[in-house]
Amino acid sequence: MIPTLEWLPTGVNFLDQTKLPLEETYVLATDYIQVATVIRDMIVRGAPAIGVSAAMGVAIGILRSGATSFDQLDVEVAEICSHLAGTRPTAVNLFWGIGKIRDLYEQRKAAGDSIAAIKDAVVAEACLMYDEDIAACKQMGKNGAELLPQKGTVLTHCNAGALATCGYGSALGVIRAAIEAGHEIDVFADETRPFLQGARLTAWELMKDNIPTTVLCDNMAAHLMGKGRIQAVIVGADRIAANGDTANKIGTYGVSILAKEHGIPFYVAAPWSTIDQATATGDGIPIEQRSALEVTHSNGKQMTPHGVAIENPAFDVTPAKYITAIITERGVLRAPFSESIKAMGEMPEPA
Ligand code: MRU
Repeated sequence: MIPTLEWLPTGVNFLDQTKLPLEETYVLATDYIQVATVIRDMIVRGAPAIGVSAAMGVAIGILRSGATSFDQLDVEVAEICSHLAGTRPTAVNLFWGIGKIRDLYEQRKAAGDSIAAIKDAVVAEACLMYDEDIAACKQMGKNGAELLPQKGTVLTHCNAGALATCGYGSALGVIRAAIEAGHEIDVFADETRPFLQGARLTAWELMKDNIPTTVLCDNMAAHLMGKGRIQAVIVGADRIAANGDTANKIGTYGVSILAKEHGIPFYVAAPWSTIDQATATGDGIPIEQRSALEVTHSNGKQMTPHGVAIENPAFDVTPAKYITAIITERGVLRAPFSESIKAMGEMPEPA
């Protein structure tokens, strides 16, 4: 399995996704400031991977602290959490990951644990979250595989694969599971301007698994759907509101409308940690704006006239009405999503 990120005795080791597919290099983050930089600069990216990275960031911050009293450590933990929370606003997994370790810190402190014992506990918890993320991907695969065609072409947008998680992938995990179950599936990967997660990352990881993959420019899906060459769409998610509205990589919304128009099922695969029941609708999801340089330049080369105005929202929101089903590790959600999300959220967490 592709090692997206890994906890090592020396720090958190990240596969540098900005360099793929041409170079397979790693960046070792030895403190929480470096983990935050790795997240902000998209050396690691993808909502579930960001969530676990942030958890490891808080854990390494606590581990490396020289604080000798809880008064001191409380101040440091607040600073660590707020620094990591300032990296990327859209993927709710970031805040979930930070919250899990911060809550554990508070619980252990209240229980009277020593600072040394708390350090061990937060590292163990962050490593457990890593294992749980892979298990959730595998379960999403099992839950979603039968939704994909027995034989056909599946379109995906961005990268919701092993690289976007701790391993196996959410949307690409469902594709992997369907293939493991005997489906004959080939994949169309939208290139995903401007960061090219589809062309660089999805194509790279699917080719490593010998899954037949074709890269499309972002404006080709309508044509191919019209020709009957796409049987299903599956994407990941960065934040799913309580009514099912789903933020994902910019361009996803357009693909969902095309799928609806052509009568093609449009699936979202995401771990439960991506569902944000505190946000009522997609209107409440913050959309990250990234640097204009991602649009004006390609491989360091300027592509647009000097001084032209640029928009670069990194995500858009697909209204729930365009989504056929949301595949999670707890089960498959169907419309009306406000009811199915609430009902599944009230079920006891699987052991
Ligand atoms: O900006 P990115 O590359 O972090 O955006 C990633 C996506 O939009 C993914 O589709 C999403 O995080 C789901 S990853 C399983």
